[in-house]
Amino acid sequence: MKDHHGRVIDYLRISLTDRCNFRCVYCMPEDGVCQIPHDEILRIEEIERLVRVAADLGIKSVRLTGGEPLVRKGVEDLVASITATPGIENVSMTTNGVLLPQMAKDLKAAGLDRVNISLDTLDAEQFRKITRVGKLEDTLAGIEAALEAGFNPVKINAVTVRSLEQDVLEFAKLSIDRPLHVRFIEFMPVGDSTSTGIDGQGWGKADVIPSDELIETINAQAEEAGIGGLIPAGKNPLGWGPAKYYQFEGAQGTVGFISPLSRHFCSSCNRLRLTADGKIRPCLFSDEEFDVRTPLRTQTDDEVRDVLLTALGAKPDEHHDKVGTERNMSQIGG
Ligand code: GTP
Ligand code: 5AD
Ligand code: SF4
Repeated sequence: MKDHHGRVIDYLRISLTDRCNFRCVYCMPEDGVCQIPHDEILRIEEIERLVRVAADLGIKSVRLTGGEPLVRKGVEDLVASITATPGIENVSMTTNGVLLPQMAKDLKAAGLDRVNISLDTLDAEQFRKITRVGKLEDTLAGIEAALEAGFNPVKINAVTVRSLEQDVLEFAKLSIDRPLHVRFIEFMPVGDSTSTGIDGQGWGKADVIPSDELIETINAQAEEAGIGGLIPAGKNPLGWGPAKYYQFEGAQGTVGFISPLSRHFCSSCNRLRLTADGKIRPCLFSDEEFDVRTPLRTQTDDEVRDVLLTALGAKPDEHHDKVGTERNMSQIGG
């Protein structure tokens, strides 16, 4: 599938649920968000059908997201059926990791190829402040479980927010002794950007740390610690996303930077999104969505295909520095 801007679209991100066992400050307001009613959430069979039609059109990679995808019942079976869909070559997941200790082995057996785990700090107190309810040790146990189950690569996603003053060198160093791929993500103005953010202060440009600045900071701190700075990665970890990768000399893993604000990567965008309530969303930052739940419930595959093609045709050329979206991140899935 090619869109109007000549981009090949072969990657579908599927949000399985808007529910989450965390309440991260950059993702949702403190009192949570109005949850989607149960009957509006796509059933597992409806997602499977959508994937079959999408694969016929040329989708090759699927990423399962949330909210937190592992709180969705039946996720292991869904992974198994998506991996068995002709045309689908790769199935991955973005998770906060909390449920991986009990689920990683089954997910691996079901055919899940890769996991990206969200973790923003190694400081227990700060972890609680960011997630509002989470425990650092739970996510760390999830990372161990992912490595033990044999997932490779295992990536760690850290959203950087200036006023949080995260210890970025300590975090980047996670990539040295173990095959972990740490990625720093610029804080994006998604959702109600007036009420997400630290202490409910809202998203502000001042809280975005541009990747170039972050690389300089890490390099300066690394030199001071006698480690030596980051060099371009010899080999990127497997993936279809927009991260740029570096590494410390001799490290087992890499350090990546995802820079939606300081270095637009929209010209190489390869993806469509499906929300948990059955809307195809052509762009993370655009509120334009296309209902595919109705055709999935009442119409033929041809009509499902038409919705996908209409959404493809509506993919904007770039996000035009838009601030705020109607849905927040937990309802889009990143
Ligand atoms: P791989 O590289 O294949 O491992 O996946 P990925 O980096 O695309 O997926 P992941 O879910 O780990 O996303 C990491 C971060 O990139 C998240 O914060 C996403 O919100 C952000 N991101 C993913 N896709 C897009 C996109 O199309 N536009 C923007 N602006 N950000 C995105
Ligand atoms: N800016 C950047 N990344 C975000 N994520 C959630 N909210 C934001 C935001 N406002 C990240 C999560 C996870 C991924 C799905 O999106 O940390 O890694
Ligand atoms: Fe945090 Fe991810 Fe849940 Fe949002 S969806 S609250 S980022 S764990």
